[in-house]
Amino acid sequence: MLQEGIFYQQGSTPGKHWGLLFIRVKSDANAEEIYKALNPLWSILQKLKTGAINDLPTITLPTPPSGLQVTIGYGKNIFARTGIKKKLPGEITQANFRPPLATGGGKVLLASGLSYAETITKNPATEDIALQFISDSELLTYRCYMESYKFIAGEKDNELFPFELVKFYSGFQREDRRSWIDFHDGISNLKSGDERLDAIRIKENNTEGEQWTIGGTFLAFMRIEVNIDTWIKLDRITQELLVGRDKLSGCPLENIVNNRPVTVSKCPFAGTASIIDQASNGEYPNKDFFETPKTSDALVLTSHVQRANHHREPISHRDSLRIFRQGYEFFEVSDNNPKVKIGLNFVSFQDTPERLIRILTQDTWLGGVNFGGSDNNQTIDNSILKIWGAGIYILPPANDMNKIPGYELFEG
Ligand code: HEM
Repeated sequence: MLQEGIFYQQGSTPGKHWGLLFIRVKSDANAEEIYKALNPLWSILQKLKTGAINDLPTITLPTPPSGLQVTIGYGKNIFARTGIKKKLPGEITQANFRPPLATGGGKVLLASGLSYAETITKNPATEDIALQFISDSELLTYRCYMESYKFIAGEKDNELFPFELVKFYSGFQREDRRSWIDFHDGISNLKSGDERLDAIRIKENNTEGEQWTIGGTFLAFMRIEVNIDTWIKLDRITQELLVGRDKLSGCPLENIVNNRPVTVSKCPFAGTASIIDQASNGEYPNKDFFETPKTSDALVLTSHVQRANHHREPISHRDSLRIFRQGYEFFEVSDNNPKVKIGLNFVSFQDTPERLIRILTQDTWLGGVNFGGSDNNQTIDNSILKIWGAGIYILPPANDMNKIPGYELFEG
């Protein structure tokens, strides 16, 4: 059973606000010490679901109807701590991000066109423990961070306490279903229900020592800044060719005629202006066009959407390279130039990180390109996206014993 916070089921809608907290375990801490500190932290977060916090013993705080969903993941470092009962899953070793260069920047993967920001010398997203918070209340996702902070800061003088807070990222959903580059996003994702589950659930296997991971998944995270100054300088046709969709309607491109991109026929459906318009009965008249078409047009094939999905089946097979994306936008303001830093907290779930790593590195997929576009047009493309942090975490399955997912690392 997958943990909460992964919205793959039919009819389940992710909360509007998101947070991801990275916790480092001190290098000399052992499994017993880690578990002893993790249990009270986990219980603080569980109590927040009912509006209870330790510092206000008789008070119940309001909680959003959507509730709070807390997900825990473990990064590769924790498996090296003394006394940890499980070995690092092989998939994490084989498919993982590179560290930034000591001088700053550098590629996130050797064959990828994505690089770290030049000022990044340490990747803040590769820590021992990652906690994801999702709710409809911005306050509640921040409160998860604050209560974790209070708990960890309260133990500052305790040398035996194993945790340090490293980084917290937050993000939000957009009601207009468009990303910061103004194009529709999240339109072509796996269908909820079996399709998503097939791509993300770690399947039954015979790998010795890894049976505890079955029914769990892997989370991949990248904090991706969009260079908006570069993007807004591109004309509409160039942007559409990079994305692979019409900018206004969101309809997918099929081919190019007279140097102009042409969308799949009959999209948008008569009487609608955009792919996500809903009829009065709640139906989506354009739903057949959510999925991008199979096309043989060489230029359309170089677009982001076509590179990111080659329509391979079955989805349950790792070679399909299908992933379930559940990202949230971010927005930061600065007094210095550039005055805004915007982008996407890219989050994907998959039964093996190999699916994502291959999308990002293989030729004709996103390999070598920064966002999309043809290989010989990389001067336009190569500075649109910048990475501020990237990490891969194993999310062990949930259990019905009221234990922290991944308790097997510490018990037994
Ligand atoms: C800030 C960075 C990014 C932006 C702004 C962005 C934007 C978009 C947009 C506008 C679409 C079209 C809407 C849709 O079909 O859902 C899309 C689709 C997609 N993107 Fe991205 N993307 C970003 C990064 C990535 C990365 C790093 C990956 C890595 C795998 C990725 C994978 C995909 C996939 C799989 C699709 C759906 C393709 C399909 O099934 O048709 N995106 N993205």
